Amino acid sequence: MRNVILTGFMGSGKSTVGQCLARRLGSRYVDLDALIVSRAGASINDIFARNGEPHFRQLETEAIRSISACDGLVVSTGGGAVISPVNRELLHAAGVVVNLTASIEEIAARLASDTERPLLREGRSPERIAAMLAEREPMYADADLRIDTTGKSVEDVVAEIARFLETKG
Ligand code: S3P
Repeated sequence: MRNVILTGFMGSGKSTVGQCLARRLGSRYVDLDALIVSRAGASINDIFARNGEPHFRQLETEAIRSISACDGLVVSTGGGAVISPVNRELLHAAGVVVNLTASIEEIAARLASDTERPLLREGRSPERIAAMLAEREPMYADADLRIDTTGKSVEDVVAEIARFLETKG
């Protein structure tokens, strides 16, 4: 089976959906952020604080390259993994790319009390989230399947992905 790669903004549900999808498919689940953290021996907050975002993006590309060598994984990416055109090419070459979206209100609510995401330090108002989403929209749109998760259960989203994989995966 090809890898299934979940992309989407912070709080779009990639990790929850990814874990549930992996269980359903009997696949191994890989969280790219967790892989970066374990390889670096530092939290994402610490990587950003000590070495800056460009270094984090480098580690992110290396992590994407290493999953490209695997098959049959369900992978959740960090929200900014799609920014680099090189990453997008690697992700498409690595498997089926599924983009999860959610309404700005839902994302803002899910991220309200987060402390682990350095990019939200400068603010997490619906206006700021909307601006970041608008900037990234063309990159998120570069996917084989897009699902709006707003108001849907995790099981519904997983079933939608599984149906897509049966017909087109
Ligand atoms: C980021 C999203 C985060 C993490 C890092 C940067 C982004 O991942 O990779 O904080 O640029 O949107 P999640 O989408 O899993 O929160």
